[in-house]
Amino acid sequence: MNKTSMILDVDTGVDDAFAVLFAARHPQINLLGITCVDGNTNVNQVVANTLKVLDAAGAGDIPVARGAVRPLLGKSEYAEYVHGADGMGDLGIAPSSRKTDPRSAIELLRDLVEGSKDPVTIVPMAPLTNIALFLRAFPETAKKVHRIVMMGGSASAGNATAAAEFNVWHDPEAAAIVFQSGVPITMYGLDVFMRPGATSEDAAQLLQSEDPAAQFAGTLIAAFIERLHVSPITLGDYGAVATAICPELFTTEIFDVVVDTSQGPARGQTICDRRAPFLKALEPNDLTDSASVRVVLDLDVPAVQTLWFKTIDNGWS
Ligand code: BDR
Ligand code: CA
Repeated sequence: MNKTSMILDVDTGVDDAFAVLFAARHPQINLLGITCVDGNTNVNQVVANTLKVLDAAGAGDIPVARGAVRPLLGKSEYAEYVHGADGMGDLGIAPSSRKTDPRSAIELLRDLVEGSKDPVTIVPMAPLTNIALFLRAFPETAKKVHRIVMMGGSASAGNATAAAEFNVWHDPEAAAIVFQSGVPITMYGLDVFMRPGATSEDAAQLLQSEDPAAQFAGTLIAAFIERLHVSPITLGDYGAVATAICPELFTTEIFDVVVDTSQGPARGQTICDRRAPFLKALEPNDLTDSASVRVVLDLDVPAVQTLWFKTIDNGWS
């Protein structure tokens, strides 16, 4: 089996936790490291949460580095109303004894990409501040990145605002830098983000497992359902990781995409040129600084869900 060498960039985050659990356990993924960024909550809390998730996953010694403490320009805007005061469901989990890597996020990204003998896929599922800083600080290393498969953006509506998805809205300038970097990008955005989900029944089944990772996942799902009063809840960011290793489960199209960095109501919107080819031919592309991006538009929901449950719980049926 060909493994995918992968680096995650996270703002853990309940659904980031689902993604980290999956990436740490899936046999087809060689998880090289994780970088943390200010997003759902402050970056110190993101680091603490991520280390706890690695404990729950039973993961080996995977380096975790602290990254940007705020967006490139604006101020931090947290999503603790969704993810809890601690950013990960307020479960009261004891701190991890794992050590944070002494390198900054961008140094870890550089070292992991330079040191890998295999092509490296970066999977950001958080504001793109770390990734933009890395691409700008180390342009020669950036050329070696195989591709970026990101959770963020939308070819339809937003969530943080009517127009913008949270990760892009939190740091639109960073997103614009990443989109224009020339690194091949796949965007797993809000068009599909909510569709793979987990119910209270799924949580109950996971909680019956003897595997600590499955129990942790079950606890997280149950707490998230209780907090949001909604079921199923989305497996969220995990979908980007699945896209990176199982593209056959996802339907994509390539669009010209530009990030709105204005201060208007569309700030943070990922404007996707979805016009019919004949219209595009009649009206030349007026999106300045657009990038060609592969956008996920549909997926095999049952298969994507089953992939997650079977990876988290060996006994899942
Ligand atoms: C994104 O924002 C965060 O709250 C989630 O973790 C996900 O990455 C969805 O807009
Ligand atoms: Ca996230």
